[in-house]
Amino acid sequence: MKYIYVLCLVVLASVYAKETYTTENDDLDIEALVKNLSALREFAGCFLDTVECNPVAGDFKKDIAEAVAQSCEKCTDSQKHIFNRFLEGLKEKLPTEYEAFKKKYDADGKHFPALEAAVANF
Ligand SMILES: *[C@@H]1O[C@H](CO)[C@@H](O)[C@H](O)[C@H]1NC(C)=O
Repeated sequence: MKYIYVLCLVVLASVYAKETYTTENDDLDIEALVKNLSALREFAGCFLDTVECNPVAGDFKKDIAEAVAQSCEKCTDSQKHIFNRFLEGLKEKLPTEYEAFKKKYDADGKHFPALEAAVANF
């Protein structure tokens, strides 16, 4: 009986569990990155195909188009925080790259308002 109860819980949990992106870089120190202009440039350049990606930036890049299109629906809270701080840092320090980023990942301007709202408080 107990076994069936546990089994039900497991089934329920898997139905409700949210699919998320892989979390191996969730511990990225985004504050340090945003403070360091050359590191920020490296990330932005990777996302914009203008410089070679380092492994961490490349890991984020593989999900970025979908994350923009889906308002970070599959992002963990840490990823929302990273995305939020990255976009804020870009907007403030590298406005040209910020505009290029928007143009590349949201050419019609359809997704950015929802995306920025979705990550705003993380
Ligand atoms: C800033 O980022 C660059 C490129 O990633 C790195 O080589 C450098 O050590 C960083 N500087 C500081 C002060 O963290």
